[in-house]
Amino acid sequence: MMLNWDNPLAAPIPSVQSRPELRSHKSVTNDAASKKDVHRGSAVVEVEQEVSEPCSEYRTTGKTFDKPATYEDSTNDAESSPQHLTTPATQEADSTAKTSTATVRAGESAHRCEWEGKQTFTPMKPVNPEDKRVINGMGDINQLAPFKYPWAWEFFINANKNHWTPLDINMAQDVHDYHHSLKPEELHVYENVLAYLTTADILAMRNIGLAVMEKMTAPELQIYQARQVYEESLHTWTYQHCIETIGLDQSEIYNRYRVVPEINRKIQISNRRLDAAMRSDINLHHQDDLQEFILSYAFFAGVFEGSWFYNGFSPIFALQRRGLMKGTAEQLQYIMRDEVLHASFGIRVVKQILQEENLKLDPQAMRDMWDEAEAAEADYAKFLLPQPILGYSAQDHHEQFRFIANRRARQLGAEEPFPGARNALPWLDEQSNMRKEKNFFETRVTEYQTGGALKWD
Ligand SMILES: [Fe+2]
Ligand SMILES: [Fe+2]
Repeated sequence: MMLNWDNPLAAPIPSVQSRPELRSHKSVTNDAASKKDVHRGSAVVEVEQEVSEPCSEYRTTGKTFDKPATYEDSTNDAESSPQHLTTPATQEADSTAKTSTATVRAGESAHRCEWEGKQTFTPMKPVNPEDKRVINGMGDINQLAPFKYPWAWEFFINANKNHWTPLDINMAQDVHDYHHSLKPEELHVYENVLAYLTTADILAMRNIGLAVMEKMTAPELQIYQARQVYEESLHTWTYQHCIETIGLDQSEIYNRYRVVPEINRKIQISNRRLDAAMRSDINLHHQDDLQEFILSYAFFAGVFEGSWFYNGFSPIFALQRRGLMKGTAEQLQYIMRDEVLHASFGIRVVKQILQEENLKLDPQAMRDMWDEAEAAEADYAKFLLPQPILGYSAQDHHEQFRFIANRRARQLGAEEPFPGARNALPWLDEQSNMRKEKNFFETRVTEYQTGGALKWD
């Protein structure tokens, strides 16, 4: 039985598999799109039964075309959009379509659909992928392929290999550890890492969803970023799940970035740099605005996600390495995998923009960006670890930031900001590469395709 998506609270409807009359129907079994519609409810199913074959030809008044890829309606109104032409059976089921002047008649002929009421439909030229651009493109944003950026589609496919929810991970031992095993300085670390990360991830969701995604003019880029928006929300859920499960005071934890200067500083820097891309009057046809957007995205990918986030999980991993807070650490491992992809994708997009727009990152602006990020991270580390905990110190955290920052700068094609920085936490990279099939945390997450198939960094 399947959920009735038209009315989720109603009784489930029978699945196709349990209804032989649907299974035997050609239009259901042969057409992937029709299968999807059948699952949506009985109204669509009835229409599908009238159509013996998917339409292979469309005819407009006075003119017939042989199954072109797309049509353009000169009036460009919603009723006559190309989607109506390509999904006749679905449109017949739609009550809106029934009342329109442009009604598709399904079933009059086994191999023909008739389109009435519109005098002209001008076929568009096929999409040339070379016309696509990351920004300021004039191509068809609704047509996925042919790809110009197949790597972006690969990011989307890979992102879907790292799929989990926080409920998959057993937190029982963490509850015990928090209340009985952690020392005061370790409680301080744990709580403040969560306080910073949860605020930062909401900021990340807003930035990618509201400031960045809308500026992309190739659908394969937007589709990955849509997944990224979801993942940032999932990360927020994960922190909230940890906070709830452990029994922390939610209001106090969430409020911490407002009262702790070292957390607040990182959030304020991020807000300032990311707001530059979010302002409503930004015009990417203007060089100054374009440079500002690129720098903002470089900060987001290279610093915010690629360095601060990447480095931000490590204090919890240090506890995990001593057998403490292992459930939280496993949650963060999944988040870390997402963030590595986010950072890599953002850096790739920035480089693509630079190439397409024939621009370079301003060295002085990058220098300022790294210096500001380092100063904030150093202060944050001192606040987090006024005294070292076993196996982890503020100096380790600071130095590891510098080491990771060099890596992100190289990936951006820029100069290393901190030459000679040392890999202070060589186990950190292993965290994102750890495979899940060993079940060593005794959680029920035992098998994802992730670790073995992906190159994370
Ligand atoms: Fe995130
Ligand atoms: Fe992210």
